[in-house]
Amino acid sequence: MSKGKATAVANPNIAFIKYWGNADDALNLPANPSLSMNLAALTTVTTVEFRPGLPSDMVTIDGQPAEGHALERVVQHLDRVRALAEIDEKARVVSQNDFPAGTGLASSASAFAALSLAATRAAGLLLNEAEVSRLARLGSGSACRSVPAGFVQWDGDRDATSFARQVAPPDHWDLRDLVTIVSHQHKQVGSHHGHEIVSTSPFYAARLAAVPGLLATVMSGIQQRDLANVGPAIEADALAMHGVMMTSDPSLLYWEEATVAVLQGVRAWRHSGLGVFFTIDAGPNVHCFCERSDAAQVETRLRNLPGIQDVLVSGPGGGVRLVEYYLF
Ligand code: PMV
Repeated sequence: MSKGKATAVANPNIAFIKYWGNADDALNLPANPSLSMNLAALTTVTTVEFRPGLPSDMVTIDGQPAEGHALERVVQHLDRVRALAEIDEKARVVSQNDFPAGTGLASSASAFAALSLAATRAAGLLLNEAEVSRLARLGSGSACRSVPAGFVQWDGDRDATSFARQVAPPDHWDLRDLVTIVSHQHKQVGSHHGHEIVSTSPFYAARLAAVPGLLATVMSGIQQRDLANVGPAIEADALAMHGVMMTSDPSLLYWEEATVAVLQGVRAWRHSGLGVFFTIDAGPNVHCFCERSDAAQVETRLRNLPGIQDVLVSGPGGGVRLVEYYLF
C-alpha cells in the first residue's frame, strides 16, 4: 500500500449498554461505560489520500459531496490526524456505506472508525488498536467501539485511557441482530446534540445509577452465551435511555408507529416462547436479537408487521481493517 493513500473498512456497532451523555462534551468522555457488538453485515469503506497542493479537503459520502456539519466533522478529524503526523496536506476522502446513513444505524461509528485508520495510514502513522480507538472516539464517541473486533466495552474517564477493548471475539457467540428498518429518513436531532442535553432529564441520574448492574449482567451473559439473561438487561437499558431522551428539554422522540409495533411484536413472540429481545439507538429503527437458529422465524414475523421497510440480518463483525483497494 503506497504511503499517502489508504482504504479502511469498518462495521457499525450496536450497543447493548448505551452511551448517552458525556462527562466531557469536547473530548467525548462518556458518563458511563458501554458495551456493544459489531455488525458484520453492514460496512463503511473509506479511502483517504493526502495530496500536496490540494487547496482544501474534498469529501464525498455515498456519492455526494459532503457539506455543512458533516463536512466540518470530517475536516476536524483530518486536522487531528494532520496534527499527529505533523503534515499540512489537505486530503481527498471518499466514503461509501452499504446501509442507510443517519437513521440510527450508527453510520457515524463505522464512518469515524474507518476514517481514523485510513487517514492515519495515509499520513504515514502506524497506530495500535487502542490509539486508533481513542482517535475515533474524538470523531464520534461510539466510533471507538467499532475499532476492536466482536463484543467490545468502552470505558475510561480520561482522554488517554478512554478507548474500547474487546470483551469476546466475533466467533465467541453466533448471535443474530435483525436490524428492522421502519424509516430511511435522516434523523432530525443528531446524537451530538442529545448528549449535550441529557442532564435536563429528571431521569438521567436514575439511568446512570442502573448502568453498573445491567452492565455486569450483560457481561456475564455474553461470557456464558446466555440470551435469557442478556436480553432483558439490554431492553431495560434501551428503554431507560429513551426515557431520558423523551424527558430531556427539548424532548427527543425518535420512535414512530412502526417502532412500537415491533416492540409489541417482540414481546408477544417472547411470551409464546421465542427467544427475541430488542434495543433501539437514536432513531426509529429496532434491533432484534436472537440465536441464529431462530433468526429465519423472527425475520418472517418482523416482515409481516405493518410499516416494516426492510430487515437486515447480521452476526458479530470484525474490527476496523485495511484493504488493498481504493475508492478513487
Ligand atoms: O457516538 P454518538 O455520539 O453517535 O452516540 C451514540 C449514541 C447511541 O447510538 C444512541 C448509543 C450508543 O451507545 O451507541
